[in-house]
Amino acid sequence: MDKHEVIIIGAGAAGLMAGIRAGRRGRRVLVLDHARDPGEKIRISGGGRCNFTNVNATGKLGRDRFLSQNPRFALSALSRFTPADFIAMVDRRGIAWHEKALGQLFCDGSATQIVGMLVEDLRAAGGALRLSTPIEAVERAGEGFLVRTGAGVLATDRLIIATGGKSIPKMGATGFAYRLAEQFGLAVTETRPALVPLTFEPGALARLSPLAGVSTEARVSHGKTGFTEALLFTHRGLSGPAILQISSYWREGEAIGVDLMPDGNGLDRLKAARRDTPRLAIQTVLSAFLPKRLAQLVGEDLEMPGMVGDFSDKKLMAVMERVNRWSLKPVGTEGYRTAEVTLGGINTDGLDARTMEAKGVPGLHFIGEAVDVTGWLGGYNFQWAWASGFVAGEAA
Ligand code: FDA
Repeated sequence: MDKHEVIIIGAGAAGLMAGIRAGRRGRRVLVLDHARDPGEKIRISGGGRCNFTNVNATGKLGRDRFLSQNPRFALSALSRFTPADFIAMVDRRGIAWHEKALGQLFCDGSATQIVGMLVEDLRAAGGALRLSTPIEAVERAGEGFLVRTGAGVLATDRLIIATGGKSIPKMGATGFAYRLAEQFGLAVTETRPALVPLTFEPGALARLSPLAGVSTEARVSHGKTGFTEALLFTHRGLSGPAILQISSYWREGEAIGVDLMPDGNGLDRLKAARRDTPRLAIQTVLSAFLPKRLAQLVGEDLEMPGMVGDFSDKKLMAVMERVNRWSLKPVGTEGYRTAEVTLGGINTDGLDARTMEAKGVPGLHFIGEAVDVTGWLGGYNFQWAWASGFVAGEAA
């Protein structure tokens, strides 16, 4: 029988990193995947340029940027493999990168450079990669495991599950990790699509969809959490970074708040417009600060005819109330079809934060998106994949 010291199922971000680390420690490693190519999500990430980390993913700032039933769980791995560690790998390969906004690091060129780097590093570390290999079953065998594949049975001392979440089923995402966790007695928290566009009921959509293609900077909030980034109107509802971020916090039946002029100077601007351009209608005034079609929609909602020069302070404040506190009630999300990640997953109570090993099943590790750790948009999810993969590879 084909015997290995470490088998990793899933040749994505987390699995490849775990393979590199275990291989460098001299372990005989095999990485398996049912897909034809490794790292497919890396390849399509960040609009093809891979937002491979975020400089704010560790330390104090990083603390509230990962959602989990136990938000402290991720901190151990994130402190042991930091954004600087991944940048060092990228620099060693001479891959050019740049910082965009908000600490987000992207390749200057193509995301395939990151996939290439990981695959080459795995090979250099002595690890093997076997693709197009469906996994039929996993069983405990003594202190190790048997992995039944479409191409025969493999034995291993340590097994690392890195098969990701449910997002983008078209690309081969499965609920494999969750089923396996349950098979071995681990709990799985509720899973739902996250970093995903929000949809609206037909009545609300009829008002919003004529704005499809319009983008504006806004603060989108849910409770005390808010994100000031781009908001994009689409034919199905709302998207853009601010919406994707809030989708991880929003729940069915709840409203989100949208502040269309989040810099706080809106009232002063309206007063200046009243003084300088008193004959203009309110939507014309607003179109100096908002995209024209959006200003028109807000103006229609306000139902305040006449010239801005005739508006009292109170009336201008009512305009700003509408601009700063637009409350919208999404009806759902676009689902796993377009979600960047899966929120929830394998309950961290069952895992050792330093090694990602299942507490009740020595030798079995779960890493990456499959675990109940979900980062903000902006490179946080890859940093979690690298860090959790690294610590599992270090321990396996
Ligand atoms: P990942 O999904 O990467 O890998 C899992 C692997 O397991 C895959 O290769 C799959 O084929 C394999 N697999 C699944 N089921 C299997 C089975 N039953 N048998 C065998 N193999 C199986 N994040 C970020 O930080 N910056 C970014 O720019 C982006 N951009 C982005 C864009 C888009 C469109 C998406 C969908 C997602 C992102 N993300 C992102 C999120 C990021 O891609 C994600 O968090 C990581 O890829 C998760 O890494 P994992 O290794 O855990 O899973």
